[in-house]
Amino acid sequence: MARLDPHSFADDTHPRTRAFDWKASVDFERRILAAEVTLHFTAPAKGGPLDLDTRALSIEAVTTISGAALKFVVHPADAILGSRLEVTVPAGTEAVRVTYRTAPDASALQWLSPEQTMGGAQPFLFSQCQAIHARSVLPCQDTPSIRQTYTASLEVPAPLRAVMAAASVGREVKGARAVERFEMPQPIPPYLFAFAVGDLASKDLSPRSRVWAEPAQVDAAAWEFGDVESHLEAAEALFGPYDWERFDLLVMPPSFPYGGMENPRLTFLTPTLLAGDKSLVNVVAHELAHSWTGNLVTNTNAEHFWLNEGFTVFAERRILEALEGEPMAALHAAVGFQSLQQAFEQHSAHPELTKLRTTLTGIDPDEAFSQVPYEKGFLFLKTLEAEAGRATFDRLLKGWLSTFRFKAASTDDFVAFFEKEAPGLLAKVDAKAWIDGPQLPAKYWKPHSTRLEAVQRIGARVPTANEVTTWGATEWQLYLDALPKPVSVAQCRALDEAFQLTTAKNPEVLVTWLGLATEAGDSTVLPRVEQVLGRVGRMKYLKPLYRALGKRAETKALAQSLFAKFKARYHPIAQQVIGRLVG
Ligand code: BES
Ligand code: ZN
Repeated sequence: MARLDPHSFADDTHPRTRAFDWKASVDFERRILAAEVTLHFTAPAKGGPLDLDTRALSIEAVTTISGAALKFVVHPADAILGSRLEVTVPAGTEAVRVTYRTAPDASALQWLSPEQTMGGAQPFLFSQCQAIHARSVLPCQDTPSIRQTYTASLEVPAPLRAVMAAASVGREVKGARAVERFEMPQPIPPYLFAFAVGDLASKDLSPRSRVWAEPAQVDAAAWEFGDVESHLEAAEALFGPYDWERFDLLVMPPSFPYGGMENPRLTFLTPTLLAGDKSLVNVVAHELAHSWTGNLVTNTNAEHFWLNEGFTVFAERRILEALEGEPMAALHAAVGFQSLQQAFEQHSAHPELTKLRTTLTGIDPDEAFSQVPYEKGFLFLKTLEAEAGRATFDRLLKGWLSTFRFKAASTDDFVAFFEKEAPGLLAKVDAKAWIDGPQLPAKYWKPHSTRLEAVQRIGARVPTANEVTTWGATEWQLYLDALPKPVSVAQCRALDEAFQLTTAKNPEVLVTWLGLATEAGDSTVLPRVEQVLGRVGRMKYLKPLYRALGKRAETKALAQSLFAKFKARYHPIAQQVIGRLVG
């Protein structure tokens, strides 16, 4: 036997799932899904065991498609991996069916009461399966190295709408319940399985794109993301045809733990992107870019996560450069560079987590998550691009995408591909140090633009009103990030009085500011910090704010009491990650 992935029980000597059919009934009262999944194999089984990933599922029965009972064992749960479901599969079996229920605290699912939604009248349910949470929704071979197509049927209360990261193929109302059916014809890694149920309305943005949101937010969302077709066209010009037919968007409730999630055909987005000025559309560009880097060419497992995220940040900033120009892309790269420095500081006790290729046996991918695979991966690719020249690098990138299209790739695949297509290029940039060395090698690409240099010239002083007249949110973020820490309380007050940062509308600026002022010991911002922690569940904002509170003796207890107060509002993944951070 050989495991395919440090985060899955899937075994390469067992039958392999090719496709699955999923049927689930959503029970908002008990907060469970009553479900059944049929896993179809790539070939008839030779006879023997099949290990599936599950987490907190109650398994009721395992049968063949004709209903013959199969022997199974649910093994004791591993804290990270969940429970191995071992099924004994007779020779010749082509599919197995598992009937089960999910747990009310399933790690992928957040069940919201009506009060936790904008409309306040209907409940809401959504999934977040990346990295290893699909197993809490359905028993499966939960590794990105096994791609699967699927069909799904979701039974929901009739007033609600179900959406999935798949093609919708019909809705039937049966009394108080409605059944919505979906098909996913393109094979996906299980972490891209996704759905949401709620009071949802939609608005078309282009012939191949619409936005879904709660009715009260759908107009604002349609405005904010109105340029999505130009993103699609820019991305296709750079990376080749879009392979997923539709690119729809779903605005999530505020507790969504990420900024965006690249669920195929239906990207999930935090409502904090609705800034009213399109200043955060780079997140849409990022999730769209995943349609190539990540969803078409997928990392074999979380140890090669930089292949998903580093390539996607590179692609995101190429889209941004095409749409908004090089100075804008340079500003974003500079903000990314600051966040990479902060990630290096946070990992100072674990330098091995600052390598691009990581070893994650016994490590929960949600705990290993950081900006390193994003921003170090981005810098590595920019350094390669600068060395090879843009035209050559574009050719290599397209070759990479077409060679591994609808496949999984590892860091070794990356090295082999580049060695073959551009002999000597990797050695020129010291690729070994990038991939298996901590932090950064001596030589790396740096962004340049006059807009960037203007911000950098201000340094540690308070800028004048004149100097900031042309600043957008990204300049502010860059300036605040670059201030030497801790900033004095006096300087915090001067900044806030001059520029009203505590009421900043852009959440990136707001959270950067609140974190900095909290760390400085400026207690005037604490009511606003509490407000943000109570309203938003995006981990990118929760982490720096809880961390800043935890840094000072006088606010450490506040971090704990606020977490206790707001915990129930956060997604199960955020509850776990922030819980460990607060201690
Ligand atoms: N795929 C990630 C989100 C993710 C990563 C979920 C790991 C679970 C585990 C998504 O594409 C992402 O990177 N989102 C960023 C957007 C940003 C880089 C523009 C986010 O949420 O902040
Ligand atoms: Zn991403």
